[in-house]
Amino acid sequence: MNQRETLKVNELGHLEIGGVDCNCLREQYGTPLYVMDQDYIENICKVYADTLNAEYGEGMIAYASKAFSCLEIYRIVNKMGIGADSVSAGELFTANKAGFPMQKICFHGNNKSKSELKLALDYGVGYIVIDSYTEADDLETLCEQKNITQKVLIRTNPGVEAHTHHFVQTAKIDSKFGFSIESGDAENIVKYVNSKERLNLVGLHCHIGSQIFEEKSFILAIEKMTDFYKHLSDKYGIKFSVLNLGGGFGIWYADGDAKKTCNQYADYIKTIANSLKDCIAKKGLNKPYLILEPGRSIVGEAGITLYTAGRIKEIKGIKNYISIDGGMFDNPRYALYQAKYSVESALKMNAPKTVKYSIAGKCCESGDIIAEDVMLPQVNEGDLIAVLSTGAYNYSMASNYNRNFIPPVVMVKDGASRYIVKPQTFEDLIRNDI
Ligand code: LLP
Repeated sequence: MNQRETLKVNELGHLEIGGVDCNCLREQYGTPLYVMDQDYIENICKVYADTLNAEYGEGMIAYASKAFSCLEIYRIVNKMGIGADSVSAGELFTANKAGFPMQKICFHGNNKSKSELKLALDYGVGYIVIDSYTEADDLETLCEQKNITQKVLIRTNPGVEAHTHHFVQTAKIDSKFGFSIESGDAENIVKYVNSKERLNLVGLHCHIGSQIFEEKSFILAIEKMTDFYKHLSDKYGIKFSVLNLGGGFGIWYADGDAKKTCNQYADYIKTIANSLKDCIAKKGLNKPYLILEPGRSIVGEAGITLYTAGRIKEIKGIKNYISIDGGMFDNPRYALYQAKYSVESALKMNAPKTVKYSIAGKCCESGDIIAEDVMLPQVNEGDLIAVLSTGAYNYSMASNYNRNFIPPVVMVKDGASRYIVKPQTFEDLIRNDI
């Protein structure tokens, strides 16, 4: 476990998060339950914003809200003074409802519809990140209709192959995202968008992937992006004032991943800031306003999921399954990416881990697994199971598969807890059924 003051084992040998014993959380809210640690989120937002400011200067941390989106998270990140990245009308709507300052939003997506673009303009989002020619055309038309100009970036692909699961790599040459710099596609769309009356092309965006630990991947992306800025400046006199380098910082999930404190996570930002400063100095570029879009590293380790152990199946000499009251409907990441998780028996944290288990969900699918081959103390039906680092891309990717309820989300801080997403009901399941 990557222990911290707000995630630790208490004197009863129970897992405690945000000063609340997980046993109390189970008694008050039941399981399955997502629990989020507010201090962690606030702390890392602050550390990221302060580091960007101290090491680089002008810029913005834009929380990638696809990692975990609900009204309260937009309120919290806004309170911490950072911006956001949104990718759909639904995320924009949620942010706006939460009173988020929409000019601090970057709106992304490889297939934004006209109505999504219109909504973004109506809300006054800060930056729209263009990912196709026809999108640029549609946006120009919509801006004409509203008689406004819109700040835009273009999503580019610097061709950096980051070491992560191929489903979350985004800047390979064959990616569905962005325009390749290497092939000349990026140069062509820059010229195209730059000629649009209503589109104020202020810079470029790239995002090389997610769950990336190697800082050299980010450094390589910076090299390529600044080379391209220099090329555009030399050849066309285009001088950009903004650079958005996306997110992607790797976090701790399980053994083998580096354990970092919030301050150590800020090293990603330091490295990026320093490498960018070096590159612009070397290449004689103007210092761009730097946008970074971390999602996973802001909420991932802040979250845990609590489950109750149900049926336990021992296949002699082969495998021991613990079936839990959740599964791929609240956490599809093993099924999608073979993602690794740490699992704990939350009320027996000090007991020796003597038995190897696989944690299975309750969906009617063999692939509905949360973790394979984890060591735990002997588990009995009714035991409380905690899966760690579930704050990112769990709730946001949850579904009602098999007509299971998406678990509620509870926020904990200073020994107190409260719902931020309430439990679903049977009525919710049939709400839109006709
Ligand atoms: N910016 C852009 C344009 C992105 O596409 C993403 C993530 C981010 C920022 C934030 O990246 P982060 O800091 O969270 O790594 N569902 C997958 C992750 C997909 C990430 C998609 N884009 C998972 O569960 O691992």
